[in-house]
Amino acid sequence: MKHELPPLPYGYAALEPHVDARTMTLHHDMHHKAYVTSLNAALEKLPGLQNRSAVWLLRNPDKIPEALRSAVHNNAGGHLNHSLFWNAMSPDGGGAPGGLLGAAIKHDFGGFDKFKTEFETAGAKVFGSGWVWLARTRKDGGKLTICTTAGHDNPCMHGDYPLLLNDVWEHAYYLRHENRRPGYLQGWWAVANWKEAARRFDLSGRSAGKTWEEDVQAPATTG
Ligand SMILES: [Fe+2]
Repeated sequence: MKHELPPLPYGYAALEPHVDARTMTLHHDMHHKAYVTSLNAALEKLPGLQNRSAVWLLRNPDKIPEALRSAVHNNAGGHLNHSLFWNAMSPDGGGAPGGLLGAAIKHDFGGFDKFKTEFETAGAKVFGSGWVWLARTRKDGGKLTICTTAGHDNPCMHGDYPLLLNDVWEHAYYLRHENRRPGYLQGWWAVANWKEAARRFDLSGRSAGKTWEEDVQAPATTG
């Protein structure tokens, strides 16, 4: 099984003006594609791991030969995170989450506005390239948390379940926002896909068993 680049679930210009079409084109067609190509190239030398998902590869570094561990790790993470990221945005996004996720955000962060400020602050503080996440922990009754990861690491590596994420690598925002990452983070709420985050919240509550690891991945689009 080769890992495959999932198609964007909307057009390149669908998230304008907050995320511009040129950025989306380069981000998906060049950056994400390169992670998929490099992951498949690394796995060509590891036939025993070719059927493993990106999540499994991230969560089992000790099963990957040391000479290829970094290449597999970085590119599996790049593939997984971007697959999740495309679905974390929508032309119909924005607004505020309702239902159980909305209630959980209010309970765990003291309100939706407080959550947004905390998420933006965390994303702005990432030094260099990384990601900012809303995730559900496996402890404390599934409490929500905001966390950041360096490079293409993912909260699933530590057992947390990602619900919503934003890419704070410069390639995600530099063409439109230049060095103003905080402005990018603030404007991004207009395209945040709360419907998908709510779906993942629901999934995270139902998949406490052994299927959890595979459920972290986005729907069918993730290789
Ligand atoms: Fe990216």
